[in-house]
Amino acid sequence: MSSVFASRSLNVIDDLSISERRYFFTKVKELKDAIVANDEKVLDSFRINDPDFGIYEVFLEDSTRTKESFRNAANFHHVKVSELISSSSSINKGESYADTFNMLSGYHNSIFIVRSKVEGLTKWLSEECTEYAERNNLPYRPAFINAGDGKHEHPTQELLDEFTFLEDIGMDFSSIHVALVGDLYHGRTVHSKADGLRIFDHVKVDLIAPEELMMPESYIEKMKENGFEVSIYSSIEEYLKTAQDPAKLWYFTRPQLERMGERILQKQDILREAITFRKDFLPYLKEGTRFYHPLPRHKEHPTIPTWLDKTPLNGWERQAINGMYCRIVLLSLVGGKIGDDYVPVPGDHETDRRTEEYIIQVEPSKDKKNKNYSEGVRPISDGIVIDHICKGDDPGAIRNHMRLISSILGLDDGRGGEWVSRGSDGQYKGIIFRPGARPLERKDLKRLAAVAPHCTLNIIRDGRVAEKYRTHMPPRIYNFDDLCCQNDACISNPINGEGVPASFYRTPDGHFACAYCGRFHTFKEIWKKRS
Ligand code: NCD
Repeated sequence: MSSVFASRSLNVIDDLSISERRYFFTKVKELKDAIVANDEKVLDSFRINDPDFGIYEVFLEDSTRTKESFRNAANFHHVKVSELISSSSSINKGESYADTFNMLSGYHNSIFIVRSKVEGLTKWLSEECTEYAERNNLPYRPAFINAGDGKHEHPTQELLDEFTFLEDIGMDFSSIHVALVGDLYHGRTVHSKADGLRIFDHVKVDLIAPEELMMPESYIEKMKENGFEVSIYSSIEEYLKTAQDPAKLWYFTRPQLERMGERILQKQDILREAITFRKDFLPYLKEGTRFYHPLPRHKEHPTIPTWLDKTPLNGWERQAINGMYCRIVLLSLVGGKIGDDYVPVPGDHETDRRTEEYIIQVEPSKDKKNKNYSEGVRPISDGIVIDHICKGDDPGAIRNHMRLISSILGLDDGRGGEWVSRGSDGQYKGIIFRPGARPLERKDLKRLAAVAPHCTLNIIRDGRVAEKYRTHMPPRIYNFDDLCCQNDACISNPINGEGVPASFYRTPDGHFACAYCGRFHTFKEIWKKRS
C-alpha cells in the first residue's frame, strides 16, 4: 500500500487537498466511462477484491441515498460488507463510541462509513482507533468516512456534487458560479461547499435563503477567506429580479424540519415559499441553467416541483446516480487499490504550525515610564502586570474578561487588582496587577496567549520591567481540562459524555475553530463556564 490515499479518513472535505480532489474527479470520470462501456478490465482495476477486507456501514441517523449508494459501492469491491444496527447495539447500553468502534476495528482491515447527529464523530474515532490499533499491534489502521455529521459536513456528498457540476462545465476547474438555495443554515451539504468549491480557481457563490435559513456567518466568512465572491439574497424572487448575472448552476437544499426549533417551524410555510421554484420564474432563467439537489425532496412540498423532472433543468437525477460512482472510487482510494500514480504536490497539506511562537519577547522601554506600574499608591517591586486587555471593548466587557483571565491563570489569590483605563486614542483597555505573583510557566503562557491575545505581559523585578512579552493567539490550544466547545452537538461537548478533550485551532480571521465540529469561537468562548 504505497498510495497516499490508503487508510486515510475523510471527516471534512478539506481532508483531501485540492490536487487530491482533482485527481479523484479524473478517476471518477474514468470509472464512469468504463461502466458505460462495460469495460471489465478497467472496472477490475478499481476493485479491492479481498474477502478479508471489511467495509462497515454505521448509520445512526436516517439515510436512503448515501447508505444505499455506499452499500452498492462496497459490494462492487467484492469485500466483506457489514452493517452495525445501532438500535440493537451496545451503544444503547451506554457504551462509548470509542469502545464500540475500537472493538470493530480489531476484526480486520476496515473502512467505516458513519453517519451521526454527533458532529466530529469520525474525526474522534479516527484518532482513537488509530491509537487502539497501535497499542494492540494490529497490522492495519482503520479508516473513517463521514457520511454526514449533524449540521457540520457531508464530504462525500460534496465530492459527488462537484463531480456533477464538473460534468456540466466540461471538467473545467478554472471557474464556477453557483447559486445555493434553501436551508443553508442546517444543510451540511452546503456547509461542505465553503471549502469544497476551492477546487475551482475562481468561485462566485450566490446564497439564496430567508434570514432564518441563511448560512451561518462562520461559513460565509470561510468562503470569503477562500477568495469566493459571495452575494446574499432572501428569496428566489428577489434573486431573479435583482441579480445582474444569475448563476446557471442552482443547488437546492431541503428545509430540514427535523433540525429546526419551534420558533422557525411555526413560520415554515412562509420560509418554504421563499426557496421554492415557481412556473412564473422560468422566463428569468439563463439559457443552459441546471438544477441540482442532494435529495430527498418533500413529497408534498418539494422546493424543486416535480413538473420540472422532465425538463433540461434536471441535473439532480444524474447527480444521485453519480453518488455511487464517486463512492466506488473513494473506497478504492482509501482501500489502497488505486492512487499509486498520484503525484503529491508540495503544500498538499498545510504545514504544521504547532511550533509557531505565540508569545514574543520585546524590549522593555527604556524611558522613565518603565517605573510606572504601581500597586495602588505603591510602585510594584516584583510581580506581573498584564496590559492592553480587550483594547477597544466597553469597560463592562473588559472587567468581565479580566475576571476570566484571572481565574484561568489562577491569579485570584493574593494581592493586586484590575483597572480599566482610557488611552489618548479614547479607547478603553484593561490592566491586571499582581504584585508578588508566582512566575508563569510555559503552559501558563499558552493559556494567557489563548485567553488574552494581543496583550502585553510585564515581569517586574526590583521595581522595573525586567521582561516584556506580546501575546498572540496560539495556532492550536488543547490539553487543558477547562476548554470546552460550546456546540451541544459536538462529540467533544461534555453533554455527550464521550470524554473527548476539547481542541481548537486558530482560523485566519482570528477565531478558534473546534477541531471536531468546526464551530467558530472567540477567545472568550473556548472555556468551560465558571461558577
Ligand atoms: C442530505 C443529507 O443527509 O445531509 N441528503 C443526502 O445525503 N443525500 C441532505 C438532506 O437530508 O436534506
